[in-house]
Amino acid sequence: MSAHLLSVDSLSRDYVDHLFDVARRMEPIAQRRKITRVLEGAVLGNLFFEASTRTRMSFHSAFSRLGGSVCDTTGFTFSSMAKGESLYDTSRVISGYVDAIVMRHPDLGSVAEFAAATHVPVINGGDGPGEHPSQALLDLYTINKEFERLGKALPGAHLLLTGDLRYGRTVHSLLKLLSLYPPMQITLVSPPGLEMPSELIDRAENAGHRVSQRDTLQADYSDVDVVYATRIQKERFTQEMVEGFSLSSDFSVDRAFLDQRCSTHTIAMHPLPRDSRPGANDLDVDLNDDPRLAIFRQTDNGIPVRMAIFATLMGVADTFDRDLRDVGWQPPHRIGVDDADFIALK
Ligand code: CP
Repeated sequence: MSAHLLSVDSLSRDYVDHLFDVARRMEPIAQRRKITRVLEGAVLGNLFFEASTRTRMSFHSAFSRLGGSVCDTTGFTFSSMAKGESLYDTSRVISGYVDAIVMRHPDLGSVAEFAAATHVPVINGGDGPGEHPSQALLDLYTINKEFERLGKALPGAHLLLTGDLRYGRTVHSLLKLLSLYPPMQITLVSPPGLEMPSELIDRAENAGHRVSQRDTLQADYSDVDVVYATRIQKERFTQEMVEGFSLSSDFSVDRAFLDQRCSTHTIAMHPLPRDSRPGANDLDVDLNDDPRLAIFRQTDNGIPVRMAIFATLMGVADTFDRDLRDVGWQPPHRIGVDDADFIALK
């Protein structure tokens, strides 16, 4: 793997397996039971030129929990890019200030262009409709953990990806990542015009996966192990597309869908944010107290996975747990009000 994390294309199966081992070892720190200062003295530059809650804050939290500190900038308005500064200049300047960089930018390929101007490790936190590799890694980490709990295996599993598969960068990265693993069944369900790019389908098929495409959720999905829903990315639509588009309630992943079309062991995932406004027909809040809803276990898993990414990129993956200390405060026993017992912190 290169010194940057820009695309799933740079990842090997061995690298991902090792990263997941490191993430497992990070869990006592992510769960607020242990403390490490292994990145003490290091500074992260968190550069977000597009809206984010999870990616920006979880990278910040992950770096802080490793003992480092963080400089943040958000939006173009308060950045010198608003004065016409190039990605090259910005990259070179920031690299003199910090030891690792996470960047999100609305333009496809922009994070790679930024990374080409620096030797400081750069992580792609999302480049327009392109990729979001750390999200794919935490998604697969979550699937593995959920399957372990349910006594299932990844080879031969049936995954259903639905929603905006054209502009949803998380599903692009996830489908590429799954191509490193043994054959599975992958069903892609999207409204017309929002289908998965054909080159990504070809790649999954060439890796041995059985891929089928549909334009409706109104079918029998009782053998599906994972439903991965995504938000419709209207901010990436042309004006013409926005005017002609509304998502039918038939695409809503809700309790009725899981009860009637899926099974008691189907898990529901979503990279979030989900659009909870009336009529959006995104992943429904009526699943909030249903243990099949894995979305908050998924976001919680973002911390150990992102800590593992930093530890790997910055050369401390083998040493970070040599001098762990107990926390000196009282962490919560359970995080969310609807969390099921099996994710309570011990
Ligand atoms: N999943 C994700 O990228 O969320 P944010 O846009 O909030 O970072």
